[in-house]
Amino acid sequence: MAEPLIPSAFTVEPAVALAGRVTLPPDKSIAHRAAILSALAEGETQIVGYPAAADPQSTLTVLRALGVEIEGRDDSLFVQGVGLRGFHAPEGPLDCGNSGTTMRLMAGVLAGQGFPSTLVGDASLSRRPMDRIAEPLRQMGAALTLTDGHAPVRIDGRPLRGIEYRLPVASAQVKSCVLLAGLLAKGPTTVIETTPSRDHTERMLGLPVFSLGAERHISAEGGAPVPWGLRVVPRDFSAAAFFLVAGSVVPTATLELLQVGLNPSRTALLDVLRAMGARIEVQNERERGSEPIGDLRVHAPEGLVGVEVGGALIPNLIDEIPVLAVAAACAGGTTTIRDAAELRYKETDRLAATAAFLQAMGASVEETPDGLVIEGGHPLRGATIESRGDHRIAMAAAVASLTASGATTIEGADAVAVSFPGFWDELDALAGGGLVGNTAFRSRNGT
Ligand code: S3P
Repeated sequence: MAEPLIPSAFTVEPAVALAGRVTLPPDKSIAHRAAILSALAEGETQIVGYPAAADPQSTLTVLRALGVEIEGRDDSLFVQGVGLRGFHAPEGPLDCGNSGTTMRLMAGVLAGQGFPSTLVGDASLSRRPMDRIAEPLRQMGAALTLTDGHAPVRIDGRPLRGIEYRLPVASAQVKSCVLLAGLLAKGPTTVIETTPSRDHTERMLGLPVFSLGAERHISAEGGAPVPWGLRVVPRDFSAAAFFLVAGSVVPTATLELLQVGLNPSRTALLDVLRAMGARIEVQNERERGSEPIGDLRVHAPEGLVGVEVGGALIPNLIDEIPVLAVAAACAGGTTTIRDAAELRYKETDRLAATAAFLQAMGASVEETPDGLVIEGGHPLRGATIESRGDHRIAMAAAVASLTASGATTIEGADAVAVSFPGFWDELDALAGGGLVGNTAFRSRNGT
């Protein structure tokens, strides 16, 4: 599907108002898994609401290159499952674009196939650590070659054996990689996590999970059939996060976000924002497939106060930390974020990038080895910010710009296409149309 071109820079004026209903993209994490599991199943799956964003589209590109038939009709995707071993050998390298989830999950699937394959990515993905998946996959008998711990990931598919694997880092991507490889292995595979991470894979596969104290033991049985049929992708909580913070820092803001994924392994930001004083209501909580969803309403509070965030909470809000730091810069008092060194291995080093853009806007932020210390309450001022090619940095900086004095220009603004192609349109519409002063943007929308 041809995506509209997104201008490479946007100028955001301070918001005088922010109100309305936010159209959010479908959940990226859930979509990757829905596509991969549909391909590994034996029947046809209809996925309602598959995202147009670049990352989930990268997963489709890879699956199609492996011979999976995928057709888009109306608002659905129809995937013809090929079964656990029905992929065709690809004709060339499999391009994962910017998507770490595509690369790490597909490595697990490809490790147990009967053919060689190579996973490649863009410059950012090629800098991210892949030894974390190579290590458990090699224990399972896989033959994987990395380049200095990074992509390209060269895989010589071969029979795998089940293992018990204790995750050394809290990572849903590593967990899912090992569990998917486990489906192709001989015997059971158990992944043990000491800090819970997002649990979409085990939910979708209906895998048994045993809790042992603080630990979760998740098991996959080699050769077990993969469920197929209808899957509905909820709206993305991680995309909602930008508007939950925007609605909490722009005076008089009132926003409504419908059908948002509310999986408890993803929603710690709600609790943290509420502890800071945010006014966020959750309504109409219900189940959609294997995932809980609900509608959110956010109203600007009188003010926010700083918090301490760390420990087991971090994997639950790992993608939301840049925008949480924006809320902290607008809050009274100190916010301390610790145990978040994993942020240095994302699309960019997000601790450094967040500290840099907030400092450029006049905030008091200290970067620590595993987090940030933010002295809130210093007024933000407009600046020129570089997204460093990272979608979440571009969107977090845009939220900060709403509360700054003077205009902020965000360069590398097109990075939002990775997870939220409509972000700038939404922001402009909610701010009453006068917010984003960019000629290319205006002509694209005919205004
Ligand atoms: C994801 C897991 C997280 C998250 C990423 C998506 C997933 O990464 O940051 O955006 O879909 O499994 P890690 O597993 O590296 O923590």
